[in-house]
Amino acid sequence: MSTNSTTYPPLASIPHHVGIIMDGNGRWAKSRGLIRHAGHQAGVDNIRPVLEGCVEFGIKVLTVYAFSTENWHRPLEEVSGLMRLLGFTIRHRLHELHQNGVQIRHSGRLTGINKELQKQILHAIEYTKHNDQIILNVAFNYGGRGEILDAVRQVIAEGIDPETLTEETFSRYLYTGDLPDPDMIIRTGGDWRLSNFLIWQAAYSEYYTTPTYWPDFDKNELYKAIVEYNHRERRFGRILDGETTPA
Ligand code: FPP
Repeated sequence: MSTNSTTYPPLASIPHHVGIIMDGNGRWAKSRGLIRHAGHQAGVDNIRPVLEGCVEFGIKVLTVYAFSTENWHRPLEEVSGLMRLLGFTIRHRLHELHQNGVQIRHSGRLTGINKELQKQILHAIEYTKHNDQIILNVAFNYGGRGEILDAVRQVIAEGIDPETLTEETFSRYLYTGDLPDPDMIIRTGGDWRLSNFLIWQAAYSEYYTTPTYWPDFDKNELYKAIVEYNHRERRFGRILDGETTPA
């Protein structure tokens, strides 16, 4: 974790919404001769300082990929460890998050998660719903394709006229609902893929990856990612003024 005394030069552009694929917990643990669960534990602990960094830099929404629908295929022991970690985190960190003005959201399917954990998730959302310092959106039991499928099912169930359906209205049926699309997706652990994370919403996100394992990704690393974001030219499929050549 970085020290609090570091001051960071202000940056021209701050992403409003950042999504993080928190990869590398297992390798972090292995490199220290620890079991994988210790890596996940360190990974959960690392959310807090990164969240603090987000608030300091002016990021308004942080979505963290905590458990994908594909993660069910991991060994049972690891899956139940991750479930327990979420329950533990809600029980022991919710009050502090609330005190710091963090609004908790959940993106993903509740079905499949045990009933007690479902209740805890819903409680965390309800308890923090008026907070406005930052939104922490936890993607848990989340898969982007499943999310699109769930949205399509909902659209059909509501009898929406296909002719009137727009990208904007469709977006509201996604788990992310009223949240703006992520401006930047950060992946720790060095790989270059989205792994079914926010695949609709990330259509125009700036992608950033670092070899740093998630438990070591600190405020300095977050700042570096935002510096890189400031070097990107976001064109959203357009060409910029003055770039056109006469026909
Ligand atoms: C990938 O690391 C990370 C995950 C499977 C999920 C991230 C989970 C956490 C940070 C902890 C859980 C968070 C909550 C809120 C419960 P990996 O295991 O794939 O690492 P590796 O690629 O090094 O093996």
